[in-house]
Amino acid sequence: MERLLEPAIKVRGEISLPGDKSIWHRALIIGAISEGETEIVGEPAGDDVLSTESCLKQLGIKISRKNGKTVVSGNGPKGLKKPESVLDAGNSGTTVRLLSGVLSAQNFESVIDGDSSLRKRPMNRIVTPLSLMGADLIPSDSGGCPLSIRGSTNLKPISYNSPIASAQVKSAMILASICSGVELELSEPYPSRNHTEIMLRQCGVNIQTEGNSIRMERNVKLKGAVFRVPGDFSSAAFFITAALMLPDSEITLKNVGLNPTRTGFLNVLKRMGADIRVIPDENGSGEKQGDIVVRSSDLKAVTITAEDVPSIIDELPLIGILGTVADGVTNVSGAFELRVKESDRISLLIKGLQKIGISANEFEDGFSVEGGQKISGGTVDAGNDHRIAMSFAIAGLASEKGVTLKGAESASVSYPSFFSDLEKLSE
Ligand code: S3P
Repeated sequence: MERLLEPAIKVRGEISLPGDKSIWHRALIIGAISEGETEIVGEPAGDDVLSTESCLKQLGIKISRKNGKTVVSGNGPKGLKKPESVLDAGNSGTTVRLLSGVLSAQNFESVIDGDSSLRKRPMNRIVTPLSLMGADLIPSDSGGCPLSIRGSTNLKPISYNSPIASAQVKSAMILASICSGVELELSEPYPSRNHTEIMLRQCGVNIQTEGNSIRMERNVKLKGAVFRVPGDFSSAAFFITAALMLPDSEITLKNVGLNPTRTGFLNVLKRMGADIRVIPDENGSGEKQGDIVVRSSDLKAVTITAEDVPSIIDELPLIGILGTVADGVTNVSGAFELRVKESDRISLLIKGLQKIGISANEFEDGFSVEGGQKISGGTVDAGNDHRIAMSFAIAGLASEKGVTLKGAESASVSYPSFFSDLEKLSE
């Protein structure tokens, strides 16, 4: 679907966001392997989370809606049923990688597959550690999906140094450890998002964290819990960017998740001189949340290096868009991971910027953009990547002639009402 994003004068108003996608996936999966009922309260998230839900249903888990809540009837750590057909994870890397941890500890064989984007994504990052634990995982010839998993109810404890900072790898291993009742020690080069740990602690699990390492004891028992899902910070980031770039703008984003492993974008924006106020909600437990107020700002260029990357990974395309107006040269390095997301986001970002009249440089592990450029406008192919689509929608608002977006419908992966919300805020 093609969609024209016309230049806007400003953005103003207040908005609530879809539920945090990462937390939703985990709430459903943790609910499925718990004993008893888990209740999930929060705004829906989008197609990716529906993929996790439908895979779990294929695995024999009952999921229903009651009084605005989602209720998962857990079957315990080894209680999933062999699916009758291939599990379809759609576009969702989180679904494949987290479920692989659970499936590695079940006593049946299953196959998990997805769309053409997911088939290109590397699965060896989970195949290696889960195989070391004793499961039998066979990816496609190119190392991706379809991924066949022959689980074992007898997995071994493991101490693993992950070569990459990845919450998906970490969570797959945590889930395998819980489902098989074995100890786990894991370290990462930098800390990745820690929703799994927070949610398990809410269930009474003792997970020790030291620096970039975690340790889980054996024979963890999970009982059904209540999870509250805040608004998705990564979805808020698109509107934050629009408000910063357009003159005379001010928006308030309500009830946004503020987990510090996710909000690196806010720290980077402060370094850029952005006018942002965070009003934390002191009443919540578990995940931090609050409101964010953003006003138009004159921005300075910023340098982002490997240690910044994990906590800003999903927002990096927006740094490319913001770099066009920031004073100086914005430089991102240490971000090779961006090339193996729903698309090669470094390549699509730079191609897209060039299509709308911006000169930008592409590197193997990042990019650079000089500020003080005018976004003229043009046609951009989002490459079926929700975050690329929404990033260039914001560029369209800030452009002189508008941006025609090819593949705009991919936004529904994380934010089905993105374009109507954007219209409500734009003047
Ligand atoms: C996610 C983790 C991140 C992120 C993805 C969702 C998660 O990936 O990019 O959108 O929910 O665990 P990695 O931490 O695996 O790189």
